[in-house]
Amino acid sequence: MTGDVEEWLREKGEKVFKKIGIKKGYLVLDFGCGSGNYAIPAAKVVGKEGKVYALDKDETKLNKLTERAKSAGLENIEEIKTSGELMIPLKDKSVDVVLLYDVLHVYYFSQSEREQLLKEVYRVLKPNSLLSVYPKHMGLDEVKEEIERVSFRLESKHFKTLIHEDRYTEGYILNFRKVDKEQKLGE
Ligand SMILES: C[S@@+](CC[C@H](N)C(=O)[O-])C[C@H]1O[C@@H](n2cnc3c(N)ncnc32)[C@H](O)[C@@H]1O
Repeated sequence: MTGDVEEWLREKGEKVFKKIGIKKGYLVLDFGCGSGNYAIPAAKVVGKEGKVYALDKDETKLNKLTERAKSAGLENIEEIKTSGELMIPLKDKSVDVVLLYDVLHVYYFSQSEREQLLKEVYRVLKPNSLLSVYPKHMGLDEVKEEIERVSFRLESKHFKTLIHEDRYTEGYILNFRKVDKEQKLGE
C-alpha cells in the first residue's frame, strides 16, 4: 500500500465522503469497488447502523478488501462477487447512495451497457437519493449527459484530492439526484 493510500484510508477519505453527503446509517452500494479505496472510508462514515455493499467481479481485489476491512476493524461491509453482469443483486429502492468511482467508462462498458447499468442503479436507489460518480477516462460533459438521460439530475460538483491507481490525484466528483419518473412526467 502506498503512503497516499494509507493516509486516505486512515483519515482523508472519510472527510471527503462527509463533505459530499454520505451520512451515518446510510446503505451504500460501491459498484466496482476494487480493493476498497472508497468502500473502506464509506463504511467508516455510515458506521454500525449503516452498511456498504461492495460489489466487484474481481475476486483478488475483493480478497484484498476483506483484509483491509479486517485490519480497520470494520464489520459493516458486505462483499458481493459477481461475474460482471449488469444486474445488481439488490432489491428495488433499497440503498441511499450508489458510488460509481472510476468504473463507468469506456474501458469496461459500451454505451448501451452503461445505459443498462445506470437503469439498474436507478432501480436500486431509494426515491430522491444520491448517485455519486468519479468519472475517469471519459469527459465530464459526456458522463453528465449519459447519466441525466436515465432520470438523474446533476446536483453538485466537487473538486477534490482523490485516490486513483494508489496515488493522490485531483479530480471531480459529480453528485446526481434520482428524479422520480412520475414526478418528472407531472412537471
Ligand atoms: C479502475 S477500478 C476502480 C476501483 C475502485 N472503484 C477505485 O476507484 O479505487 C474498476 C473496478 O471495477 C470493476 N468492474 C469493472 N466492470 C465490472 C462489472 N461489470 N461488474 C463488477 N465490477 C466491475 C473492476 O473489477 C475493478 O475492480
